[in-house]
Amino acid sequence: MRDAGPSLPRNDPRQYDDLAGEWWRPDGAFAMLHWLARARAALVPPAARPGALLVDLGCGAGLLAPHLAGKGYRHVGVDLTRSALAQAVAHGMTAVNGDATAVPLADRCADVVAAGELLEHVPNWRAAVAEACRLLRPGGLLVLDTLNDTALCRLVAVHIAERLPTVPRGIHDPRLFVDDRELVAECARHGVDLRVRGIRPGVPGLLRWLVRQVRGGATPVDRAPHIVPARSTALLYQGRGVRGG
Ligand SMILES: C[S@@+](CC[C@H](N)C(=O)[O-])C[C@H]1O[C@@H](n2cnc3c(N)ncnc32)[C@H](O)[C@@H]1O
Repeated sequence: MRDAGPSLPRNDPRQYDDLAGEWWRPDGAFAMLHWLARARAALVPPAARPGALLVDLGCGAGLLAPHLAGKGYRHVGVDLTRSALAQAVAHGMTAVNGDATAVPLADRCADVVAAGELLEHVPNWRAAVAEACRLLRPGGLLVLDTLNDTALCRLVAVHIAERLPTVPRGIHDPRLFVDDRELVAECARHGVDLRVRGIRPGVPGLLRWLVRQVRGGATPVDRAPHIVPARSTALLYQGRGVRGG
């Protein structure tokens, strides 16, 4: 079982330094982040103007970058973890080492703000949402995904997932999970009309992936599980919203 950092508290960002070699391994500790990045990028339309800016809050090692290729954005990533940002730069992004709750970028600079699997790691997620909305131009798009603050999510994402061989122990602090209705209300307070939907890995692809994991085989990138809509937002959910004028 992989340990993100046995001596570190849950959700300590230094865990990402210990796991730096995992980011770009499609079957590694962050495998599901690759699947989610593809699903998040699918929510982002091609840039509507030359020089359009996409700000990727909590970008990690830039897993979103390949899925945005050809869409016409300048891709700027903001993250606390320098070891992850170095890899994001190697994938063509511009890196800003900083906190998503105090981003050193101008108001209304972004055509798109992405926050993939970030909010459930931020002790003050409302401040990160306020920053995301502040950065957006009127008409700009917010795309995000996160874990819900439910008993089911705590059971699955922490107590079950952390027993699986590929999931890092201690990477999540369930006290930080984000209630979807509170998130929608917070976005509305900052002028963004967020719509959320539950998501999950598609079952056939997930089963094939698990079998390959057990057999020790590698997953070709085009055979990775697809993220599909789920009936409920109770576990993992995606949000998409536009900032009003
Ligand atoms: C689960 S990873 C997600 C990375 C990336 N968005 C992806 O989906 O591949 C969470 C990332 O958020 C970063 N992070 C956590 N708290 C943060 C904060 N307050 N400000 C900026 N980045 C933060 C971590 O360093 C880590 O890279």
